[in-house]
Amino acid sequence: MSWQRFKQHHLLLEDLEFALDISRIDFPEDFLPEMEPQIQAAFSAMAKLEAGAIANPDENRQVGHYWLRKASLAPTDEMRADIEACLQAIHRLAEQIHTGKIQGATGAFSHCLVIGIGGSALGPQFVADALGNPRTDKLKLHFFDNTDPDGMDRSLASLDGLLGETLVLVISKSGGTAETRNGMLEAQAAYDTAGLNFSKHAIAITGADSKLDKLAKAENWITRLPMWDWVGGRTSELAAVGLLPAALQGLDIDRMLAGAAAMDVATRSTETERNPAALLALMWYFATGGIGTKDMVILPYKDRLMLFSKYLQQLIMESLGKAKDLDGKPVQQGIAVYGNKGSTDQHAYVQQLRDGVHNFFVIFIEVLKDRNGESLEIEEAITTGDYLQGFYLGTRDALYEQGRQSITLTLKEVNPEAVGQLIALFERAVGLYASLVNINAYHQPGVEAGKKAATAVLELESAALKAMQAEPGRAFSAPQLAEALCREADTETLYKLLNRLACNARGIHANAGPDLETTTFHAG
Ligand code: PA5
Repeated sequence: MSWQRFKQHHLLLEDLEFALDISRIDFPEDFLPEMEPQIQAAFSAMAKLEAGAIANPDENRQVGHYWLRKASLAPTDEMRADIEACLQAIHRLAEQIHTGKIQGATGAFSHCLVIGIGGSALGPQFVADALGNPRTDKLKLHFFDNTDPDGMDRSLASLDGLLGETLVLVISKSGGTAETRNGMLEAQAAYDTAGLNFSKHAIAITGADSKLDKLAKAENWITRLPMWDWVGGRTSELAAVGLLPAALQGLDIDRMLAGAAAMDVATRSTETERNPAALLALMWYFATGGIGTKDMVILPYKDRLMLFSKYLQQLIMESLGKAKDLDGKPVQQGIAVYGNKGSTDQHAYVQQLRDGVHNFFVIFIEVLKDRNGESLEIEEAITTGDYLQGFYLGTRDALYEQGRQSITLTLKEVNPEAVGQLIALFERAVGLYASLVNINAYHQPGVEAGKKAATAVLELESAALKAMQAEPGRAFSAPQLAEALCREADTETLYKLLNRLACNARGIHANAGPDLETTTFHAG
């Protein structure tokens, strides 16, 4: 690796205390000039999007997450006023909650249960972990981000005896997502059991007039905050979705917004070699052939950034994983994203990265500041932070020696500005990459398809239960029940449904036979 190439392809943005090094992606010298017309077209598309064009044609939606950190960019006065009013409401609410002006049944709020999924959970989870401090957090955050009953029990167990001082945020843009609705009902039941009024502990963040909005209004919850049509779920961390939980935790949301706004300025540059989002998108394009042939491994060398890979997994895979391009041509695009943290992953999958199948590139994230305060010398003139950097540099070299390529992002420290910057950087890189490969990054038809399929399964379960309860004691094998319901094509699904019901005291009992064909179930 030459110092010359490093200097040439190391972009240092001093004002942002941020650097991007693309020198270890082996693109030839003519790659960037050749891609210049395409990236300029992507800049134009992005400028139109920021000016309020319909950038999500399938849903006929504007895409306005960039306005959240600079309201003056929003295309109408009404939107500008909405963004500003919402931010003020968040500050006011956080202040009222922190000072105990708004309280729970048993006193000032000290815990907050956030109920949401996907874009309505991953950002808040990432930020809470990245910036939180158990010693100074004003409210401790807990999450329901699934419809797993045991998962909810675990979260509720950590709130045992504390519900009267626990605020609940129910977050759903659509206001109709099943997992979130289920979580809300389970939380409501826990409050009822504790003899507490759920409504006096609950806030909704949702689209105007959604089911959730109507419910929160009818039940007179503490308040409701908006989710606008023009902010997508996975780009909503800097809307009320992410800002309210962060503000309640006591994090400085204005600094997060300022960091994002500053990165927006840098990534709006049409000078490609000075634009970190453009360089990222171009490197993804080079590394994956523009068709996702390689996976993206995110390796931050900082525990605080561990959830960033999970957050990016959704942002990138839900945005780029598309069957058709904007012209309707089948393309099956996407880039698979995974990761966790270094050096921990050195003791897990990094072995395969170095020596196994070569189907990835890495994005390392290096954080210069080790900790607040002095570090212990664990050997002569060596600290634990020295080891962390040593492992990062060593792993990067060990991979590169085997032809495994990488990008490095360098941050000074993990503070609110840096977190805002990271979010803004990847949001724009995703948008630019989507333009390079001509896809709609802002819809998610695959997510909708999964939701519909789950509904069909629940309908089948109801039909099965009804049929079996109509003849208590009658033994049905899965094929017999399928025949009785005229659903032969669903025999396997029926077997799986009955098998689980039998394990959950739901009035269905199993009689194991020698094989699946003869295993029977009866109601009773
Ligand atoms: O990014 C997205 O659009 C999705 O992942 C959504 O965030 C997720 O499905 C949750 O949707 P909602 O906020 O409507 O409950």
